[in-house]
Amino acid sequence: MKSPIAVVVLAAGAGTRMKSALPKVLHPLANLPMVAHVLANAAALKPSRIVGVIAPGATRVAEAFAPHPTAVQDRPLGTGHAARAALGALKGHDGPVLVVFGDAPLVTTESLRKLVAACGKARAAVGVLGFTARDPSPYGRLIVEGGELVRIVESKDADAAERAVDFCNSGVMCIDGRLIAKLLGAIRDDNVKREFYLTDAVRIARAAGHKAIAVAGAEAEFQGINSRVELAVAEQALQQRLRHAAMLGGVTMTDPGTVWLSADTKFGTDVTIGPNVRFGPGVTVGANTVIKAFCDIEGARIGKGAIIGPFARIRPGSDVADEAHIGNFVELKATRMGRGAKANHLAYLGDADIGRGSNIGAGTIAVNYDGYGKHRTIIGPDVFIGSNSSLVAPVKVGRGANVTAGSVVTEDVPADAVAFGRARQVTKKGRAAALRAKLRDRAAVARKAAAERSSKK
Ligand code: UD1
Ligand code: CA
Repeated sequence: MKSPIAVVVLAAGAGTRMKSALPKVLHPLANLPMVAHVLANAAALKPSRIVGVIAPGATRVAEAFAPHPTAVQDRPLGTGHAARAALGALKGHDGPVLVVFGDAPLVTTESLRKLVAACGKARAAVGVLGFTARDPSPYGRLIVEGGELVRIVESKDADAAERAVDFCNSGVMCIDGRLIAKLLGAIRDDNVKREFYLTDAVRIARAAGHKAIAVAGAEAEFQGINSRVELAVAEQALQQRLRHAAMLGGVTMTDPGTVWLSADTKFGTDVTIGPNVRFGPGVTVGANTVIKAFCDIEGARIGKGAIIGPFARIRPGSDVADEAHIGNFVELKATRMGRGAKANHLAYLGDADIGRGSNIGAGTIAVNYDGYGKHRTIIGPDVFIGSNSSLVAPVKVGRGANVTAGSVVTEDVPADAVAFGRARQVTKKGRAAALRAKLRDRAAVARKAAAERSSKK
């Protein structure tokens, strides 16, 4: 039987280059904190435990790790020192320990699995994921001889020959759980940066007669995030992965590069998405739904066969049932649209419940806010709301009722009733010419007065 894996996530670094009050690993990518991506990719290995290493007082980071435990690194004295802080939480674990960085969210589960498997096969005490870097200057160099990793040299400590090596350390390391306490305990800070380097575990293991290996992976996976520029690069990479996964799962995207997804966006098959659509967190879209250009959707469930947009905004708490239509310049907030219900143009539906098959005319507003509280508008099935109506909540419109265009509805409308919530029209026959003459004379008088005023100046 394979021994269980443990994962240690180092996240106690200062992250000063982010220039942010928010801890680096909490900066969002695809609408999830950076470290949540690291945790999700690690969790896919089904490890027996995950331990975070955090800075003192980093309660929000600890919350992001929950329910996984965290260990506190009292001072940032290097990656080796940070990993050592996790030893207490690793007691009794004798399987492989994967050490990963909280600021490297693009490392895939596949690569982690590959490293663990290679270490098991080679019976290596230490294994690292390496990559050939276009620019190796910021990285530790992997010195490989005869197929074995002999040491890792940090850039600042490297001599000219070592600096010429372009095979670099990703930072992901797999350490034999039976040896980890000994190996980390032997790390010293006798280097240029006066830091305890995790990478020294390689040399220490070899000196004790153990084997170390390096497994090659793709550079794109190992981009760490130190600045907001790198954050944006990682966002692009994650977006591309999410879009590819969606398309491979049966979603058509007319212009994929302009579609922005969240890590948790879920699609049924044969969904079509037009250009410039953004999905905030918590969106589910059912099969055969079409989302046209320029929509913004967040925290909402959209059923099957619906038509959304162009230019629709669907906000959190909304639920759009199968075959409903939400057209251009329609905003929903915490609103349920029943099956086949339609709001095709220019409407604000906040805190509303629209029954099955109802039609909401252009310009309809669910007046949900009185400056103090929010109130609900409840519309039954098969209701017709005429254009430019205001539904002043709390208010109910019963099944099959008809609200005439331009109404301000302040009282409940019973089922099958017709409501007129507007002033009666007054029509005066033959009076148009007289009205025009009157308006013309008034304009002439005003012009004359203006001319006299300016000639006096
Ligand atoms: C590290 C590696 C380097 C590798 C590079 C890949 C070491 C000594 N060097 O260098 O070989 O090529 O990553 O990107 O390991 N951290 C702590 N506590 C500390 C210091 C760091 O928790 O005291 C955490 C940071 O939050 C971060 C990670 O460890 O998540 C990496 O630290 P960083 O200082 O960025 O390492 P590098 O110098 O980039
Ligand atoms: Ca780094």
